[in-house]
Amino acid sequence: MHPDVESVILSEEDIKQIVTRLGAEISADFADKNPLIVAVLRGAFVFTADLVRAITVPCTVDFMAVSSYGDGVKSSGVVRIVKDLDTKIEGRHVIIAEDILDSGLTLSYLVDLLKGRDAASVSICAFSIKDVAGHTPAVVPDYVGTHVPDEFIVGYGLDYAEHYRNLPYVGVLKPEVYNK
Ligand code: IMP
Ligand code: MG
Repeated sequence: MHPDVESVILSEEDIKQIVTRLGAEISADFADKNPLIVAVLRGAFVFTADLVRAITVPCTVDFMAVSSYGDGVKSSGVVRIVKDLDTKIEGRHVIIAEDILDSGLTLSYLVDLLKGRDAASVSICAFSIKDVAGHTPAVVPDYVGTHVPDEFIVGYGLDYAEHYRNLPYVGVLKPEVYNK
């Protein structure tokens, strides 16, 4: 285990099971619909790479980069488009792939933006949802990988100050790392 990680909450095997199931659900729902899978960079790049390989029906992939966190650990609520799609989405079935849903502010903003471009449908596939006591996320994902505790987690694409994205598992970051 990485020395900055307190505990592993999803092993590589756990992740594989989750992504295989999500791929099967999407394949069943979007057969013959040629969905466009939109990875929200940077966090979702690892998840999306696995997800599209678990989807067995024709689909295309594009990328969007938004920034809502800076280098901190709390959502700022401010979403900035850093890189827009290259694909014209009018009439397309869009599935947004996201690494983790916390407040849901990032996704709620993106869904509205993409619906405004006359997509045939806009769905959300969240690898994880953070369970925070007493708060309801701004959006409900159509596909949910798993629920994670209200802690700062890293790995499998998730970062702290751009590090730890390359860990093949999901783990809780030791608080002393971000309180330094
Ligand atoms: P939201 O807008 O509050 O839902 O924030 C979602 C975004 O915040 C995710 O796409 C991540 O980039 C980031 N995020 C939220 N929680 C965590 C975490 O525990 N670890 C790493 N990034 C996180
Ligand atoms: Mg991030």
